[in-house]
Amino acid sequence: MAEKEIDESERWLLSFYRTSEIGGALFFGRLARSMRPGQIQSDMTKHFSDEAQHAWYWTECMNRVGANPLSITDNYQDQYSAEVGVPANMMEVLAITHVFEKRVVNQYSKHASIDVIHPVVKETILKIMKDEKWHLEWIRKALDGLEKDYGADEIEKTLKRFTEADEKVYQATMKEHEDRLQHIIERNKKLGLNK
Ligand SMILES: [Fe+2]
Ligand SMILES: [Fe+2]
Repeated sequence: MAEKEIDESERWLLSFYRTSEIGGALFFGRLARSMRPGQIQSDMTKHFSDEAQHAWYWTECMNRVGANPLSITDNYQDQYSAEVGVPANMMEVLAITHVFEKRVVNQYSKHASIDVIHPVVKETILKIMKDEKWHLEWIRKALDGLEKDYGADEIEKTLKRFTEADEKVYQATMKEHEDRLQHIIERNKKLGLNK
């Protein structure tokens, strides 16, 4: 596949990913700091170090494709807090994290599935996706481990409640991601780049 230039929509998307990985690293880092040592804190530490690494991968990727990062207002993190409130306990922290990480994996898969994508961008997404899959796995496992304390029903109910909140926040703030992707697909079609 021939390399193609990064357009403004892609530049926005890469900047958005970069900013949200920085936000994730800080968010999970603060959580890890507040936890007692144990398996969950150990996994959370690996988790935030992955997110910090991802922020670097995007920075490096943008350098490689010659695109300067845009300054993105990271307001969906705040919207999230406004919508779901402060998590009341460890189970709620893990549930909201699971819902959020699912959204991230979904956005990356959508981007990776575009027919014509810059090889460096694709390489970066695929590298990150491996870690994101593990994030979903360890959190699910940790949630299962909390069933004895909270009950499976309560955990499922909480996940459902946060998924609904996520939908709302998505409609309000993250839809721009979808619009930008759509723009790239349309542009590639016009250029005859799609299969
Ligand atoms: Fe990440
Ligand atoms: Fe993640």
